[in-house]
Amino acid sequence: MTSLFAFDDAACLALTETHGTPCFTYSGAAAEAQFRALRTALPDRVRVAYAVKANAHGRLLARFASLGASFDCASIGELERVEALSLPPGRTFFAGPGKREAELRKALAMGVRIQAEGFEDLARIDALVDRETAVNLRVHPAFDIDEGNRIIGGSGPSAFGVDEEAVPDLLARAANLRHVRIRGLHVFAASNQRDASKLLAIHGAVLALAQRLSDAHGLVFEQIDLGGGLGIPYEPDQSPLDVQALGIGLSALLAAHPWFTGELILEPGRFLAGPCGVYLAKVVRIKESRGTRFAILEGGINHLLRPLLTGEPFPVRAVGKGRGDHPYTLAGPLCTSLDRLGEVLLPELSAGDLLAFGTTGAYGLSEGMTHFLSHPVPPEVWVD
Ligand SMILES: Cc1ncc(COP(=O)(O)O)c(C=O)c1O
Repeated sequence: MTSLFAFDDAACLALTETHGTPCFTYSGAAAEAQFRALRTALPDRVRVAYAVKANAHGRLLARFASLGASFDCASIGELERVEALSLPPGRTFFAGPGKREAELRKALAMGVRIQAEGFEDLARIDALVDRETAVNLRVHPAFDIDEGNRIIGGSGPSAFGVDEEAVPDLLARAANLRHVRIRGLHVFAASNQRDASKLLAIHGAVLALAQRLSDAHGLVFEQIDLGGGLGIPYEPDQSPLDVQALGIGLSALLAAHPWFTGELILEPGRFLAGPCGVYLAKVVRIKESRGTRFAILEGGINHLLRPLLTGEPFPVRAVGKGRGDHPYTLAGPLCTSLDRLGEVLLPELSAGDLLAFGTTGAYGLSEGMTHFLSHPVPPEVWVD
């Protein structure tokens, strides 16, 4: 059984006594353990760039930075948070399909490696710099990518990157740019994938794509960025990603591609931040309606939107009450029937009971609709 809760009942009660509810709590030890497990399993030639979007809490970023992480940013706000870490150049990346000029200026001033998502990015960067500037090119591959995956969007039309078949045209236009040089490839084609062999199949296809582009167009890649998508369990019977197998597989891929002498980059967000978080909220009231029993909580999709977006609930337990098999629909306090956190089996609940939602360290508060209805933003508590 995989443990999905970074804090036990006693810790949850102690945290709510001090900080009140609802609140997000993050375990520094759990975040560090997750980073170390991945780092030690990977070959030295794989850089780990934490995807800040998963959770931008300052203490979490500082902990990962102290462990040697690089960072993947997707907005000026994320760039500013990473800037506050005072990292040496080369440890920050910037991706996104709609980069504004202020964001490009910020990234360039910070010495960040930009993932260009099309010719417009290349041209705008070229106009902003007065010296040779290396960028990575984000490509939307033509090969079959996680088709059913709503987050990645499959291999159909995409707002991300340049379509693989459009790369020759883009390179022809880019040949006239004065300063920008494409020195890396970026492909992001997985989400919450716990099967190392499936990740490696995608990574292998990306390296093959890089080789084709290199052979056909003489591109020299210093970096190949394989994106994020490393999965974590959200249910106790789900097995975790085998990071050893991932590391061994990436070593084998590097050995199979001797033409590539640069570094690989992984950009995990969920994998690094998810397991350290526990969201705590109390039951406000129980309501029976036409055969359904609702537990209405202090927070809902304003704090945890992922269950609504993906249809997958976060694991939940009733603190201090053990297991139970009473069916509840967990609802939040918002003015919409979309405000649901899942349908679960729990012990008999009453007003005031505390619920703990595990693995909420990634895409928890960072993804919540905190402005909707103007409920107070819950505190985020860092526990070392
Ligand atoms: C460019 C990029 N890198 C990394 C990630 C992190 O993905 P994950 O949290 O699944 O590892 C994302 C997620 O949207 C992304 O868009």
